[in-house]
Amino acid sequence: MITQNMQDKESNNLNSISIGNVKIHSNVVSAPMAGITDYVLRKLIRKYSKDCLLTTEMISSEALVQREDCHIVKTDDEEIPVSFQISGHKPHLVAKSAQILADKATIIDINMGCPVNKVMKATDGCALMKSPDVAASLVRAVKEVVDLPVTCKFRLGINQNCINFIDFAVKMQERKNGGRCFRDQTLRQYLCCKHLLSIGAGNQDY
Ligand SMILES: Cc1cc2nc3c(=O)[nH]c(=O)nc-3n(C[C@H](O)[C@H](O)[C@H](O)COP(=O)(O)O)c2cc1C
Repeated sequence: MITQNMQDKESNNLNSISIGNVKIHSNVVSAPMAGITDYVLRKLIRKYSKDCLLTTEMISSEALVQREDCHIVKTDDEEIPVSFQISGHKPHLVAKSAQILADKATIIDINMGCPVNKVMKATDGCALMKSPDVAASLVRAVKEVVDLPVTCKFRLGINQNCINFIDFAVKMQERKNGGRCFRDQTLRQYLCCKHLLSIGAGNQDY
């Protein structure tokens, strides 16, 4: 559960965030960005913000279990607090990845919002919003093997006719001590946005 610090609530300021038993002494969380939030960028961000929550790029569980030492997992103590984001749809692989990352990570985040075609086709990312039971099984599997808060990043829903983020969030929290984080866009809005971009209008997203 993500909660605002009590003292901050009184002053109506969000100066710190608690995620499970982890307290972030900052109101800044870097967005996980594949190909962008790598070790070098995280080091740079940390130079300017001592306390913000850093996030890694999305790390494929299928790839990580085959090659535990891949460069994408490089980190050091200066990065703490840092959330490692895992993608996948197979509980045993996502759990194994969480185990591999457990001694580096402050938080384990599961990607449930990526709209990219090849990710969706693999039934990872936002495709998990169509299968809340599978998504919940990933959270459960990770919670069973690591003693860290688990967060999920997802969208409002798949499209305007399927806005399921509340039920989805409740389901992801069936196991306590995790957190949640969601986007204010549906997958469909992302795709429309991309279409607009291609004709020269609209906001950029990924
Ligand atoms: C190049 C790029 C790569 C991204 N990669 C990821 C990713 O790996 N995992 C993820 O959850 N979100 C990813 N995102 C989405 C961002 O984390 C963020 O949600 C999005 O840019 C919208 O942020 P905003 O609403 O603050 O603009 C990516 C975004 C961009 C632009």
